[in-house]
Amino acid sequence: MAGEFEEIQKRRTFAIISHPDAGKTTLTEKLLLYGGAINLAGSVKGRKTGKHAVSDWMDIEKERGISVTSSVLQFNYEGFCINILDTPGHEDFSEDTYRTLMAADSAVMVIDASKGVEAQTRKLFKVCTLRHIPIFTFINKMDREARDPFALTDEIEELLGIRTCPVNWPIGSGKNFKGVFDRNTKKITTFQAAHAGMQEIATKEIDFSDPALGSVIGEDYLAQLTEETELLDGASDELDMARVSRGDLTPVFFGSALTNFGVETFLEHFLKMTTPPLPRKTKSGEVNPMKDPFFSAFVFKIQANMNKAHRDRIAFMRICSGEYQAGMEVTHVQGKRKIRLNQSTQMMADERKIVETAYAGDIIGVFDPGIFAIGDTLENAREPIAFEGIPTFAPEHFARVRQIDTMKRKQFTKGIEQIAQEGAIQIFQERNTGMEEIIVGAVGVLQFEVLTYRLKAEYNVEVRLDTLPYEYIRWIDEPETVDVDKIQGTSDMKLIQNLKGEPLLLFAHPWSVRMVEERNPGLKLLEFGKS
Ligand code: G4P
Repeated sequence: MAGEFEEIQKRRTFAIISHPDAGKTTLTEKLLLYGGAINLAGSVKGRKTGKHAVSDWMDIEKERGISVTSSVLQFNYEGFCINILDTPGHEDFSEDTYRTLMAADSAVMVIDASKGVEAQTRKLFKVCTLRHIPIFTFINKMDREARDPFALTDEIEELLGIRTCPVNWPIGSGKNFKGVFDRNTKKITTFQAAHAGMQEIATKEIDFSDPALGSVIGEDYLAQLTEETELLDGASDELDMARVSRGDLTPVFFGSALTNFGVETFLEHFLKMTTPPLPRKTKSGEVNPMKDPFFSAFVFKIQANMNKAHRDRIAFMRICSGEYQAGMEVTHVQGKRKIRLNQSTQMMADERKIVETAYAGDIIGVFDPGIFAIGDTLENAREPIAFEGIPTFAPEHFARVRQIDTMKRKQFTKGIEQIAQEGAIQIFQERNTGMEEIIVGAVGVLQFEVLTYRLKAEYNVEVRLDTLPYEYIRWIDEPETVDVDKIQGTSDMKLIQNLKGEPLLLFAHPWSVRMVEERNPGLKLLEFGKS
């Protein structure tokens, strides 16, 4: 038993979030390099997935190599066992991306130093704040012309509403990138790129008080650094770990993932500042991985294998306490029965392998014969427990789906419901009409193409999708207290309901949301639904 807690103590499970092209894949590769997981960075699979055309993507998805590969990467570094959860970007951005954050204990936010905070960073960040998990910021691409570091930290504070605390500070950027100053050790690490960034490089460290510093980085840069650090010491927040843990303050690091500069320092600080798996809330209290010996896990992602011959599904679960042993028997709480957990797969760097043992903090993918749903709990506690559900995230794209061959009603309903169960799309109906008119909502627009493709390939149903102009969906707080049919709406508002019959509102314009709240005193509209 003691060994189990020791294993859990070593776990660090985090997600890397970024806007496409900010450097998430590159940073992941370099982190793996430190773990010795791959010899040369550059071989993380799925690297270019986002750049594939849709048809291409379908083929890749069919093989499923990429999605499984990129779900979680595990490696060891200096006594830690690190799990990096992938949050797909680009066109395959979907609800899964959000849900993955439910399985992480912290997040690393990669920002392009020349662009600052971008749209997708904002969206993912919002989900992190919902959970109050620690967020670490890596401002990347300092080897290119970058924006002023003060402007970048100000932007993070203003746009994301989180305070910043730079751990290191850059000296110049682009062609004049001299290195970074560590505010704690008062040492400067000078920038040197080597071997096109493919290998660890020998960096030079020099003390801030060393008289030779001016000649190394240049007198002008030294003067600028002196001035900027004084300003920082006076104006920036202290590194208060309690605030970091609550997600109120983000430690900021500057570096260049491509040239492997600042990555190891980042990793070392990150490991010191993060904690092993934290307690998780259940409907009846908390499960504490450092105290509770029993196995417990929740499903955060379900992926269908698009291989027609098998049509199997993999349920990805985050272990919250205890130890997983291949073939163990656990209670599937929502299914109200005991099941055997077989065939768990896990990613070790760039290969998929079957895992025999896993611990709290780890992610396992188990074969799902169609019994699991997102948010389900598996456990073998003495008293039954159930984790709190995963929020339903707001889709931003909506379309009306119509069957081309209306004779295939049954297959159509079955297909669309099963696909919705996996959580890739959400289905709605117009309120007060039957199933005839189905509206699908998705977080990423690619999901519509996947839906059309899968309905045809797996259920032999052809559909036509007509895109709708809505972009904002809102849940109604305490709908039972509201007479929804009497809501005073705006011209761009549409009243719909989900499969549970809960009312929801769609809007084309963001300002209408507030207007409707104003027109209907007491009505509160929510951005996330409760599952
Ligand atoms: P993503 O996963 O966040 O989408 O980003 P990714 O790592 O794929 O990086 C996007 C592009 O930015 C890549 O260039 C990558 O090489 C480059 N990049 C990442 N980190 C740095 C950095 O620190 N400095 C510089 N200068 N560039 C960086 P690409 O041309 O799209 O791909 P490739 O042809 O280089 O592979």
